[in-house]
Amino acid sequence: MSGQLVRFEVEDGIGVITVDNPPVNALSPGVPEGILESVAKGNKDPNVKAMVLMGAGRSFIAGADIRQFGKGAKRLGLGERPVDVLEKSEKPIVAAIHGFALGGGLETAMACNYRIAKVSTKVGLPEVLIGLLPGGAGTQRLPRLVGPKIALEMITSGRHVPAEEAKGYGILDALIDDKADLRAEAIKFAKSIADKRPMPIVSKMTTKFDEYKNDPGMFDAMRKSLAKKAKGQPAIEANISAVEAAVTLPYEQGIVRERELFAPLENSDASKGLRYAFFAERQAGRLPSLPAGAKAKTIKTGAVIGAGTMGGGIAMSFADFGYPVKILDSTQEALDRGMKRVKDNYAVAVKRGSITQAQMDERLKLIEPVLSYEAIGQADVVIEAVFEELSVKQEVFKKLDAVMKPDALMLSNTSTIDIDKIGEGVKERKGDVAGAHFFSPANVMRLLEVVEGSKSSPETIAATMQLGKQIGKVSAWAGNTDGFVANRSRAPFTAEASILLEDGALPEQVDKALVDFGYPMGPFAVGDLAGLDIGWAVRKRKAAEDPNFRKNPIADKLCEMGRFGQKTGAGWYRYEKGDRTPHPDPVVAQVIKEVTSSLGIKQRSFTDDEILRRLLFASVNEACKILEERKARRASDVDIMWLYGFGFPRYRGGLMFWADTIGSKEIYEQIVRWHNELGARWKPSELLKATAAKGGKLSEIVIMEA
Ligand code: NAI
Repeated sequence: MSGQLVRFEVEDGIGVITVDNPPVNALSPGVPEGILESVAKGNKDPNVKAMVLMGAGRSFIAGADIRQFGKGAKRLGLGERPVDVLEKSEKPIVAAIHGFALGGGLETAMACNYRIAKVSTKVGLPEVLIGLLPGGAGTQRLPRLVGPKIALEMITSGRHVPAEEAKGYGILDALIDDKADLRAEAIKFAKSIADKRPMPIVSKMTTKFDEYKNDPGMFDAMRKSLAKKAKGQPAIEANISAVEAAVTLPYEQGIVRERELFAPLENSDASKGLRYAFFAERQAGRLPSLPAGAKAKTIKTGAVIGAGTMGGGIAMSFADFGYPVKILDSTQEALDRGMKRVKDNYAVAVKRGSITQAQMDERLKLIEPVLSYEAIGQADVVIEAVFEELSVKQEVFKKLDAVMKPDALMLSNTSTIDIDKIGEGVKERKGDVAGAHFFSPANVMRLLEVVEGSKSSPETIAATMQLGKQIGKVSAWAGNTDGFVANRSRAPFTAEASILLEDGALPEQVDKALVDFGYPMGPFAVGDLAGLDIGWAVRKRKAAEDPNFRKNPIADKLCEMGRFGQKTGAGWYRYEKGDRTPHPDPVVAQVIKEVTSSLGIKQRSFTDDEILRRLLFASVNEACKILEERKARRASDVDIMWLYGFGFPRYRGGLMFWADTIGSKEIYEQIVRWHNELGARWKPSELLKATAAKGGKLSEIVIMEA
């Protein structure tokens, strides 16, 4: 088997080892063994002077085979792995890299004597992102190559480093033009170093450790700066300790320490959650293939209607990824205001150093403000982001129907309105209409919920999913249901948070329970940040429309007092001037007391665990209802929406993955008890009931296969 996965050929005195394990040459069982056999052959063959290690297809070795983790697979022991054996080769080995060299791929390359790469290559050690550490001597070799400071930054962030930057750090010895023949260039390079002795061996390098001698506090400083992030994620501390071991222990002891630190991570809950999220994300992008004969739509240019908060952010997303986009509003003033906000946002990014002034200028050039519909007719996609009013949106879609070129996608960013109703006035091309629901701020938040209306064509849905990918979003499919999938599944969480206050919890207690759980902020602090007046207006409208609408008397009272959140210096919390830190406010506790006693509600105390369960079980139940109504395809799609739309802690996998750590049966039984005690809002989902009855996993529910 290893013979097929790894080839060995001799050309011009150079042994060429090619890993051929599509799609990305992962280090699956058989690959390490194949590399070892090839190196042994090369060393034995008197015709071979040096060796090249490369990958077939689109990449070098992209990394470990993630599916193997946590399965107790037998692995090669210390001293037997390619990362241990390669550097002991009598003849020099050159890693010739293209595409990606990540994790195990970069570790393998660092065990070679030289590394050359195509300019478009990316390298990195991203194990921390799946709750692990680079356990193939990566934490020991990278600090030797680049110095402990850069190694710490790369290993704790897991980021992909572009080839030029990697060469600057000393990871790469030479860059190869993207158009050049990598194999030929690698053979040429190998011949040029074939006789050089001593051969460079990374594990023996120590010159860059002076950095540590001059700054021995660097590891503790890193611990301090990552302390908040490291909560619940043991991999972060383990990665720091492993790099620390590289500079404080001899190499042979360092790799033993690395292994000790790796072992407990593999089966940690955080790593399981992160690995699940990794696969859920890939899965979310998958839809059934297009029907035979359907033509894929391609998107090269865009247009946005409405230069408000969302329209501006959506236009920025296009520009950020190099796509020209026109932005239309009904008045010059609105356009000017919108463009000013876009400019201000970019200026903040320049000030923070996340983009350069030149990048800002380039991006601004891609965004063209316009007033007439004729100006946008040739765009491949138009996204409507005008006021949230059906009649306004319908008017816009009628105009779009008249001006947009055939096959252009006509998408609405509505968060609450029925997509079918929005497209009602569109005459013969209802198939082009769908929802593209971005989250605020649209240029930052990565979720794109793709909403399929009853008339949306498969081509339109596929192209909208693809559009998300093109502009850096994570697309996930949703059916056309009130609030779609993300907001509908979250609504009970938000409602329950308010009800908890009526029942006796305080905003700071609810927020603390969620921050301890891993959210960056609790819902009440988020409310203060976003502004409480928006929700108040919506509630007043809904109460006028629907006599059964459940009021939110505490929030209403705060708004009546002019407490709209941070912008007014008070909301659920109070704020000092010029400071965003929320301080618990006795006034709020008093308001809660007065409102609830006037309503005759008896208050009691809650544990943090009860708070979590009330909020999250309510949403688990709703997500199951959405699935049983076939408005979501997979439970894992719901998880992706919670991760990318709502800041749910990634190391917990997502709402449904987290639910499985408790168990469907326990959740169902609790919901039944609450249904009896607290009323109709807790009516259990049939799908939840059925899953609980067979002891099934919620995160594995698949309603429609891709
Ligand atoms: P906004 O009020 O900031 O902006 C709306 C813009 O549309 C304004 O610039 C207005 O002048 C323009 N506009 C209104 N009628 C127009 C027309 N007939 N033709 C051209 N331009 C017109 O509103 P925002 O917050 O940007 O929301 C826009 C849409 O995005 C709404 O459908 C909203 O539900 C949805 N949405 C909002 C989110 C949010 O957090 N604000 C999140 C996700 C979706």
